[in-house]
Amino acid sequence: MYNTQIIGTGHYVPDRVVTNSELEEMMDTTDEWIVERTGVQERRWFEAGKDTVSNMGTKAALSALENAGLEAKDVDFIVFATLSPEYYFPGCGVLVQDQLNIGTIGALDVRNQCSGFIYGLSVADQYIKTGMYKTILVIGSEIQSNIMDKSSNGRAMAVIFGDGAGAVVLQATEDPGKGILSTHLHSQGKHAMELTVKEPSTIHKDQIIKRLIDGAEADIYPYMNGKFIFKHAIERFSEVINEALDKNHYKPSDLDMLIPHQANLRISQFTQRSLGLTDDKVWNNIQKYGNTTSASIPIALNEAHRAGKINDGDLVCLAAFGSGLTWASALIRW
Ligand code: UT7
Repeated sequence: MYNTQIIGTGHYVPDRVVTNSELEEMMDTTDEWIVERTGVQERRWFEAGKDTVSNMGTKAALSALENAGLEAKDVDFIVFATLSPEYYFPGCGVLVQDQLNIGTIGALDVRNQCSGFIYGLSVADQYIKTGMYKTILVIGSEIQSNIMDKSSNGRAMAVIFGDGAGAVVLQATEDPGKGILSTHLHSQGKHAMELTVKEPSTIHKDQIIKRLIDGAEADIYPYMNGKFIFKHAIERFSEVINEALDKNHYKPSDLDMLIPHQANLRISQFTQRSLGLTDDKVWNNIQKYGNTTSASIPIALNEAHRAGKINDGDLVCLAAFGSGLTWASALIRW
């Protein structure tokens, strides 16, 4: 039985920085409201014709491979998490396989929104533990700026979400004291409609074009019941982090670094307070990138890692909550 170690991290974000004051020009909002209610100061928006969800994922993956001291040909399998694939089908994993120009290895897409990266990590961990694969890329990438309603009607969501990609390289280790100690995955589909994009959908008889002509336009934009999601998020984050700590007989004070999915700075701060963690043990970067959904954890992980805040032997927890509803955690001995 092998353990799974994260041996490389990387990220890529589009060049274009969009500040809160730029959003003030597009919709009825203020920098003050956005910073106070969400913590976001700026986010990145993709450049059409240059950035795609798959090529951003590939750039993040190449950075993670370089960090690991490996080449693309060393990868045995790809797991790609996104809610914003460039095509209805096929998924982005196969596009990355082509862009990296690797042999015909398997590529799996994961559809678990903000929890997608941890779900992907958990799947990859099982493949490595059983010995099926030795080296796996797990990628989270999103382009969300072009699915938002950027009028005042969509302001509650448009100000929070951003574009970006992050990736890790996983490798088998025979050291039982190192790597992913456990992962914990949850879902509650009865609340699926509380955070959703309904169109394009396969539940109707008519195609999307016909439905758009008939007035289904609102359904192509994301809908979020903000207060409902917020309330569930603050409960589930603490719960799933404690689940991971309990399973491995640790206490919150044993943690060296918590990387929460960057949903809202107030949610991260609430989680931090409930676990009694000091500021240096929680990595937040929502201020710079907004909420990048499946990419937020690997981007934050890469920043913390490259900043020297995660070192050999550290106890690191990743935790996420989002649409599905889904929530998840991973506890890692680095
Ligand atoms: O990553 C997936 C998980 N996602 C989350 O965890 C997000 C969870 N939810 C949230 O982060 C928060 O609910 C929001 C940031 C989305 C909204 O914050 P809130 O404090 O719950 O505000 P609200 O929706 O209750 O709105 C309060 C007021 C409303 O005005 P009235 O009705 O009190 O007059 C909104 O219309 O703020 C207004 N508002 C805005 N004002 C300026 C909503 N969005 C904006 C905006 N700018 N962008």
